[in-house]
Amino acid sequence: MDVRDAVKKLDPYVPGRSEDEIASEFNLKKEDIVKLGSNENPWGPSPKAVEAIRTEAYNVNRYPETDLHELKEEFAKYTNLDADNIIISGDGADEIIDILAKTFINPGDEFITPLPTYTYYEFLFKPYGGVPVYAKWNLQDNVLDLDSVLDAINDKTKLIFICSPNNPTGTLVSEKDLRTIIETAPNALVVIDEAYYEYSKQTQANLIKEYDNVFVLRTMSKVMGLAGQRIGYGLSNPEIIEYMHRIKPVFSLTRSSYVACLATLKDKDYISQSIKKGIESRDYLYREVSKFENLRVLESKSNFMLIDVHNSTYDAAGLTRKLMEKGMIVRDCTSFKGIDEYWIRISIATMEDNKKFIDVLHTILD
Ligand SMILES: Cc1ncc(COP(=O)(O)O)c(C=O)c1O
Repeated sequence: MDVRDAVKKLDPYVPGRSEDEIASEFNLKKEDIVKLGSNENPWGPSPKAVEAIRTEAYNVNRYPETDLHELKEEFAKYTNLDADNIIISGDGADEIIDILAKTFINPGDEFITPLPTYTYYEFLFKPYGGVPVYAKWNLQDNVLDLDSVLDAINDKTKLIFICSPNNPTGTLVSEKDLRTIIETAPNALVVIDEAYYEYSKQTQANLIKEYDNVFVLRTMSKVMGLAGQRIGYGLSNPEIIEYMHRIKPVFSLTRSSYVACLATLKDKDYISQSIKKGIESRDYLYREVSKFENLRVLESKSNFMLIDVHNSTYDAAGLTRKLMEKGMIVRDCTSFKGIDEYWIRISIATMEDNKKFIDVLHTILD
């Protein structure tokens, strides 16, 4: 069969490695593995979400709800916006990125993505004929290189991805820089990816009320502890949201995801604890990794951090392998564009697992 050219040209997406894979590759027990590779919430979901899924299991003979009114109202409260500013997806924020591409991209349209950043933007936009134009993050000062974004804007620019905090650098973009981008490209949609915003306590969702060309992307996979349920949401003006609903698969949000999402949003204690523990864990890891003379760790406003290993005796693949042999899963960032082969990313874990990780890192690098 002849496959579409756009699909033939795609580089495969490289996800973080799973516990099962590492256990079998390195002959380890699954319970001895510490996972710091995929920016997840290590403390588990809200017990209320678990209970809601258990109860809903008896109803899965029925198709999912298509009227998401109650859930949208809950998101409206959480985001301080209205229900018609919100679109909810059933395959994570990734599905929202896909819907953005389907809604906006004609073949040949350009989208700007500063590197290194979340690789899925490019992965999902290329099949629709979107052409990536690369700007950059300044890794030395750990800020967005604003001029590189402004220089990349032209008549063909349809969409600009700004991830804040950025994956994998952990960097926040200032409101001033965002306003400059939004105002310089009034005909392009500026997508602010706030997948990790709760860890930074800074959101730009209010800009939606001021500008027509702003879209904020969010997920239930991080602070909210529901990565396995695959729920994402997007915030924008009602016209954009209405167009996106025309093309979104109607049943993508499953019954169990719906109830788990609702229960989690209502569980305010869970959310605040999740943020508090996440920030404590991140700050601990940052302090401890900063003590290694042969590593440089970038300060992060997220639930992960990027580590420069140039001054160690390893490249990222070598150090990742050494850590994995000892049951520590970290992310080798070599597959990210815009970065060389000397960077790894670690995500937060429980304090017990953080300590195990730091001990193992000392045995390898001291
Ligand atoms: C920056 C960023 N955006 C979006 C996503 C997608 O999140 P999900 O599809 O799990 O909702 C991720 C996942 O890691 C991410 O890092």
